[in-house]
Amino acid sequence: MEVVLLPTPEDCGRVVADAVAGSVLDAVARGGPVVLGLATGSSPLLAYRELLRRREEGLGFTGVQAFLLDEYVGLPAGHPESYREVIRRELTDALGLDPAVVHGPDGAASDPLQAARDYEQLLLSAGPVAVQVLGIGANGHLGFNEPGSSLASRTRVKTLTEQTRSDNARFFGGDVAAVPRHVITQGLGTILGARHLVLVATGEAKAAAVAAALEGPLTASCPGSVLQLHPHVTAVVDEAAGSRLARAEHYRYVLSHKLEEQGW
Ligand code: GLP
Repeated sequence: MEVVLLPTPEDCGRVVADAVAGSVLDAVARGGPVVLGLATGSSPLLAYRELLRRREEGLGFTGVQAFLLDEYVGLPAGHPESYREVIRRELTDALGLDPAVVHGPDGAASDPLQAARDYEQLLLSAGPVAVQVLGIGANGHLGFNEPGSSLASRTRVKTLTEQTRSDNARFFGGDVAAVPRHVITQGLGTILGARHLVLVATGEAKAAAVAAALEGPLTASCPGSVLQLHPHVTAVVDEAAGSRLARAEHYRYVLSHKLEEQGW
């Protein structure tokens, strides 16, 4: 795992965009499908803006398919806060990706349990995901895998904690009651199937979750700790989100002595 501690959220956005662009180019070089794993939430937004800027400069996304991590259950298709709509608005329309190649769990399905199984199958048949962008919840959740989620889990329906519902109420006009209770999320085992995981976290509110995920014990009590099982993780955090990391000095030392050919 590489922990990249940077002064500002804008710096984090640039490094995440570098890492994503590098993995997309690697996947293109391998031939075959190029699958981008996308997260919603506020954490990756600066990185997405940077990717859009690079597209203007010529970075190509032709032939790329995108898969979302998770989706609310019960929001009607086209609801502005459904993650399918959010990602179209924030990124994929501007990247020039046809909505037909931007996939997400079908949270509006009459049978969400089957929709979750179908999504897992679709992802397995299209994958592997070249690079998965990840945020982390203040309680350590990845995707919508709340504390207690199996570290080997696959895509399924889960129930949100009240903390996550109240954290996400800001997207629903501050109304907690409007935040769905259930979600479909890629499992932690599903997420581990991506070739490269790129976590981005900024701000003091994420500091405890970041320290637990990157330096704490491997435990379902902190779903983010599953990152420690993956061979290629780039964890990009600003000084505030990294403020509780015990090995911060070492991460800075590693970064300042990074060999160019090491890449991300
Ligand atoms: C949300 C999403 C996650 C996201 C996390 C952090 O509920 N399901 O995919 O990474 O919580 O969100 P934010 O980046 O807005 O802090």
